[in-house]
Amino acid sequence: SGKDRNQYKIMVVDADMIGIMGGTGVYEIVEMGEDIEKRVIETPYGESPEISTFKLHDVPVAFMPRHAKGHANPPHMINYRANIYAMKKLGVDQIIATNAVGSLDLAVKPGDFLIPNDFIDFTKTRQFTFYDHKTVHVDVTEPYCPNLRDILISSGDVIGEGVYVCTEGPRFETPAEVEMFRRLGGTVVGMTGLPEAVLARELEMCYASICTVSNYATSIAPGKLTIDEVFEIVETKMKDLRTMVVEAIAK
Ligand code: HPA
Repeated sequence: SGKDRNQYKIMVVDADMIGIMGGTGVYEIVEMGEDIEKRVIETPYGESPEISTFKLHDVPVAFMPRHAKGHANPPHMINYRANIYAMKKLGVDQIIATNAVGSLDLAVKPGDFLIPNDFIDFTKTRQFTFYDHKTVHVDVTEPYCPNLRDILISSGDVIGEGVYVCTEGPRFETPAEVEMFRRLGGTVVGMTGLPEAVLARELEMCYASICTVSNYATSIAPGKLTIDEVFEIVETKMKDLRTMVVEAIAK
């Protein structure tokens, strides 16, 4: 329909913004400065969560809590298309995502930060493309923006590469799944990295992620995995994460 076709033409409000997609535990950026404006953006896919826009080192920034206020949307219920479309509509051309992940590798420890350079997509039920009515095959030879990755790598103490495996969730993985992901070459596993990264690429935005390793994935280390330990580590590393994001924006 005409409406479907028009969705590809996006009216951009304000150019050259940096977008931050806040993951688990990251519901605001403390250094948001003065003059924070909060807005909800209408998209063809529904409303975005409340986005905070502000200036940091004179750079316009848009912060969006991916799960919406109070972690209302679990990973499989996040409206990824509305979220990314809203960022584009605001004028965002670069997105720094934050994602909590489990580690598939004993050498990648809880509390570490990792900047993935590739992904494997094991999601199942998500709306994963903007192009349902037009044949577009985006190139993902470099799934994460190399320029933005370099900036993130130079902004903090991080592991500079790794393969992000995305599961559908919301349950954690079985031991057999973790073993499979490991053998396939995965480094970390999370639930929110996709389709977000691909949707950003479809709208021609530069996208990279800072993964906070919150735990060893099921059966990598002994004991049962609980969401409490995920939140606990994310909380502990929050200050470093924010510092890194602010540092990256200044570059
Ligand atoms: N598995 C999937 N998603 C996650 C994990 C995990 O172990 N930790 C944080 N997000």
